[in-house]
Amino acid sequence: MTIQVFENEEQVALAGAALIAAELLQDPYTVLGLPTGSTPIGIYRELIRMFENGVISFAEASAFNLDEYIGLEPDHEQSYSYFLHSNFIDHVNFRAENIRLVQGIAVNANEECEQYEQEITDAGGIDLQLLGIGRNGHIGFNEPAAWFEKTTHVVDLAADTIAANSRFFANEDEVPRQAISMGIGTIMDAEKIVLAATGSSKAEAIRAMCKGRIDPACQASILQIHPNVTILLDPAAAALI
Ligand code: GLP
Repeated sequence: MTIQVFENEEQVALAGAALIAAELLQDPYTVLGLPTGSTPIGIYRELIRMFENGVISFAEASAFNLDEYIGLEPDHEQSYSYFLHSNFIDHVNFRAENIRLVQGIAVNANEECEQYEQEITDAGGIDLQLLGIGRNGHIGFNEPAAWFEKTTHVVDLAADTIAANSRFFANEDEVPRQAISMGIGTIMDAEKIVLAATGSSKAEAIRAMCKGRIDPACQASILQIHPNVTILLDPAAAALI
């Protein structure tokens, strides 16, 4: 686990974008795993800027998303599909057929999970998985539990996740109670992982992830045994390590 602490949020975003750009320059056929949340927005903004300046291209790259709420149409403003399209995908040159976003409105969610996992395998796995982290240490929507879930699966969201994510909805009642998430195994199979976190609300999760025992109570703690993980932090998120 390589931990880098930057001066501020903007520097974290530049560093995250630089790691992704380096991957794309090395391998134009890179398979990316893309998260949502407020943390990656700056990284996406910088990647768009690099694309517009001709530094990088996504023409041969492909992407899978990390998670999605169950019950939201892809064009619902709070769906992760909508988020990724409006904050990133639609501003660069991915080919539509190279984008696979897990569907939260699939008729059979469990079948969608199995098929999604298969499609990731068929694509040769994720080359670079970008991650944020929840205040409770979740990655994707892998909530604190007694075990680590291996593959893409249906999740019952934790009460603190519903509360934390309610800031994007009119009220807490509107936050979906379930989601589909890549499993911890899916994430750990990625060749490289880049996790970004900023702000004091993430400091305890970062401490548990970097310094705590590997424990499913902090799902991100398993990243300690991934062979290629880079953690990008601002001083507030790094305050307890
Ligand atoms: C959601 C997502 C996570 C994300 C987390 C933190 O719960 N499922 O993938 O890491 O929020 O979001 P933020 O970056 O807005 O703090």
